[in-house]
Amino acid sequence: MKKINVGILGMGYIGESHIEAVRRIGYCNLYAVADTNFELAKKKADFYGIEKCCSSIEELLNDPKVDVIHNCTPNFLHTEINKKIIESGKHLFSEKPLSKNYEEAKELLEVHKKHPEVVAAVNFNYRMNPLVQDMRGRIERGAIGDVRIISGNYLQDWLLYDTDYSWRLEPEVSGISCCIADIGSHLMDLVQHVTGHKITEVMADLATMIPVRKKPVSQTQTFTSAVPAEYEEKKVENEDYGAVLFKTDKGARGVYHASELCAGHGCYFGVEINGSKASLRWNQEENDRLWVGHRDEDNRLVVRNPNNISPEGRSCTALAMGHPEGWNDAFKGNIYSFYDYIVKGDFNAKPVFATLEEAANIVRLTEAIVKSSEKRRWIEIK
Ligand SMILES: NC(=O)c1ccc[n+]([C@@H]2O[C@H](COP(=O)([O-])OP(=O)(O)OC[C@H]3O[C@@H](n4cnc5c(N)ncnc54)[C@H](O)[C@@H]3O)[C@@H](O)[C@H]2O)c1
Repeated sequence: MKKINVGILGMGYIGESHIEAVRRIGYCNLYAVADTNFELAKKKADFYGIEKCCSSIEELLNDPKVDVIHNCTPNFLHTEINKKIIESGKHLFSEKPLSKNYEEAKELLEVHKKHPEVVAAVNFNYRMNPLVQDMRGRIERGAIGDVRIISGNYLQDWLLYDTDYSWRLEPEVSGISCCIADIGSHLMDLVQHVTGHKITEVMADLATMIPVRKKPVSQTQTFTSAVPAEYEEKKVENEDYGAVLFKTDKGARGVYHASELCAGHGCYFGVEINGSKASLRWNQEENDRLWVGHRDEDNRLVVRNPNNISPEGRSCTALAMGHPEGWNDAFKGNIYSFYDYIVKGDFNAKPVFATLEEAANIVRLTEAIVKSSEKRRWIEIK
């Protein structure tokens, strides 16, 4: 079987995780990497022994050997670059969020409609944690009854001090939102994916708790805590805290909050789902555990075990019980689901990865959340 030649664009923080994941998939040949910072791309290409190294998307687009392009650039480039990739007929694996705003997302959906031969996915990677898939299976089979209440949070601390800075705080680069678009988006995607509910109304309170930050004069790596030697004072426009109440199309009520100002948290991303018969709780920092809550029998702590897990969970787990799987494994699982879909070739089948439509819906929800906070009222998503 001919291997699928992959090119990855954007060699920053997340680009490296894409390299690691693609290299673990047997169908794939990681053929090229690219970054406008050519030195950085060259460093990665040399380190990982990657054949081709480029400094622009055009070089990947013009190379007939490239079958798939991963877009790992900052948010403001997603629409423009994703559009070029889809129009070139190469398959697209894009980082989230799909675009800076819903207008752009709709534009991409239109372009994709004209290219049904292109498989396009957006990286909502937490979907493919084995116990997240297990939760989806349990809920679908009615094991917890009707979903009534959903709660969760996504907490990090990499913006805790005013010396912490990221392009995610700048609307021109990030879009209209920082923490909702960046991390709240993962939570909303996961909740909709596992419950099968659609969020249809939101009421939000967003805040910029550190309104002025020290922006480094030179570029810094995302998520580093180094204090810049030279900086300028910069007024921050995007939020660093968000609390969201929501309602779903099937009558459930939900609440979550997201922030990068929570000391001690690297990736504290958890959800609890309360149904009419039982509850489920999962947190990605204890990825191998799922709490199942009952009223009339003992609660259980399920430990991931490929021998016992549901078929949905089985599809994305490999290691035996007691050998912890983690963030990188689920990340690879999500990318694998995309390549497996391409190899199987039935493009009418419903994929397990997030489609462009689903990712556009998350952008739409993000916009509604920002609007709700500004207007201080519920916003319906029709
Ligand atoms: N799925 C996840 O869990 C996850 C985690 C982190 C980041 N992300 C997403 O990944 C994207 C990148 O985030 P990051 O943290 O890696 O950012 P980053 O700033 O660390 O890296 C971005 C890279 O893109 C390069 N770049 C900029 N413009 C380019 C262009 N025109 N062509 C080629 N390369 C270009 C930069 O030089 C940089 O190396 C964002 O959209 C972010 O939301 C997703």
